[in-house]
Amino acid sequence: MSNTEQTLSIIKPDAVERNLDNEIKEMFKNKGFSIVKEKKIQIEKPEAEKFYKVHETKPFYNDLCAYLSSSPIVVMVLEKENAVLANRELMGATNPTEAEEGTIRKKYGISIDKNCVHGSDSVENAKIEIDFFFKD
Ligand code: CMP
Repeated sequence: MSNTEQTLSIIKPDAVERNLDNEIKEMFKNKGFSIVKEKKIQIEKPEAEKFYKVHETKPFYNDLCAYLSSSPIVVMVLEKENAVLANRELMGATNPTEAEEGTIRKKYGISIDKNCVHGSDSVENAKIEIDFFFKD
């Protein structure tokens, strides 16, 4: 039975600054993802705080929000069978030093903060995150 899903992906400031967005998009396409929506934007810190609200009690919350709003990002809706899990597998572990070969974070990640990409962690959050950036 097919289970086509959509998930939200963000190419973070460190990757956009290094002009890695096209290479990262190719990695998604090569794994069978369709990029059904896409935009390059820069968000304000309050918007980043809203997006990452789930992390608001974490010690890294302020730096995380300052970072996401520091320069342009590329936000995308990715679609494929089991897209949420497939995207998390392709991204690799949050900390690039723990990410497996062949993953985006292993290939391009610099640190746990500058880890190139964000991806929704569940189907439920994917819907919320897609709405956050693409609800008109
Ligand atoms: P992301 O998938 O965008 O979700 C939250 C982000 O917080 C995460 O990627 C990391 O870049 C960042 N972060 C910073 N410090 C930590 C930490 N100690 N544990 C988890 N995530 C962290």
